[in-house]
Amino acid sequence: MTIKKVMVIGAGQMGSGIAQVCAQSGFDVLLNDMNKEALDKGMNRIEKLLARSVEKERMTESDKEATMSRLKPSSMLEDAKDCDLVIEAVVENMDVKTSVFQQLDEITPKHAILASNTSSLPITEICAVTKRPEQVIGMHFMNPVPVMKLVEVIRGLQTSDETFTKIDEMAKQLNKTSVEVNDFPGFVANRVLMPMINEAVYTVYEGVASVEDVDTVMKLGMNHPMGPLTLADFIGLDTCLYIMEVLHEGLGDSKYRPCPLLRKYVSAGWLGRKSGRGFYTYD
Ligand code: CAA
Ligand code: NAD
Repeated sequence: MTIKKVMVIGAGQMGSGIAQVCAQSGFDVLLNDMNKEALDKGMNRIEKLLARSVEKERMTESDKEATMSRLKPSSMLEDAKDCDLVIEAVVENMDVKTSVFQQLDEITPKHAILASNTSSLPITEICAVTKRPEQVIGMHFMNPVPVMKLVEVIRGLQTSDETFTKIDEMAKQLNKTSVEVNDFPGFVANRVLMPMINEAVYTVYEGVASVEDVDTVMKLGMNHPMGPLTLADFIGLDTCLYIMEVLHEGLGDSKYRPCPLLRKYVSAGWLGRKSGRGFYTYD
């Protein structure tokens, strides 16, 4: 089986980025979202980023048009009926993801691979809700997808070697470097990154330093491109909280307890950049 047609589910910041790089790499892509506004926003975001690439002479106008012609919006999961690969990038919530995978298992052709861009949830558990666990895998892109080179590839217990090889090859076709990691809460990226972000929230919560000063320490002191609180706003505070909860529950160690301030912000709807307010405010 050769992967030609891909559906990306969830047109948020990750899904739109994944759809963009797939279309730029020559795949036919359907970008799906249940929310019409999110779908329009995702398609517009891609168009804008491609236009910027043309402006910066990283891409020609005709490459941009060819990329956009390979990319179609979709509002129904049933559109996945002739896709070879589906990459799910909906909200980081196990119930939502398992419901999507159960539906995809019924809709997609028998040969199709079902991948999840989950940041932290157990791939083996996602595999288990389908009748094709050997064709289910984790394909964890980093944000912003068009810029970041890494993809963590995570096998569930039953994922086949063939599925792994196909996804590993696909990552290379997308011009990414893949790293295979085992199916443990948070994999590698978020097991290491999120406790740092959570600790940065604690330093603000405990009055050790201001939001700006914590970020300055980590930017100028450790040469991080963004301070941890700017990065948390960029990722989405809801996503950060979900990941900390997965680490806390899955690894059973109190060192992973989410900071109460992070919880409070999410309860208030302060989700970071995407909602206009998090540790900082945005236009
Ligand atoms: N989408 C697409 N492209 C973007 C972008 C976005 N959201 N933000 C920036 N870029 C591109 C810009 O187009 C820009 O290139 P041009 O100006 O040539 O067009 C280039 O990136 C650099 O951007 P800027 O000059 O505006 O800013 P910068 O130098 O600070 O770089 C950054 C921006 C690449 C995001 C950088 O700040 C960075 O690397 N930040 C850390 C990102 C990070 O850690 N990501 C991992 C998050 S964790 C994760 O993804 C896993 C998870 O499960 C939560
Ligand atoms: P987001 O909130 O920006 O987007 C999620 C999108 O999914 C929304 O547009 C929503 O309308 C849509 N959606 C929700 N349920 C759906 C369904 N049943 N069918 C179709 N669409 C549905 O979230 P995001 O930041 O793009 O994160 C998406 C996934 O990627 C999460 O699992 C997250 O953990 C993971 N991830 C996030 C980052 C990050 O930095 N934000 C990085 C890597 C991985």
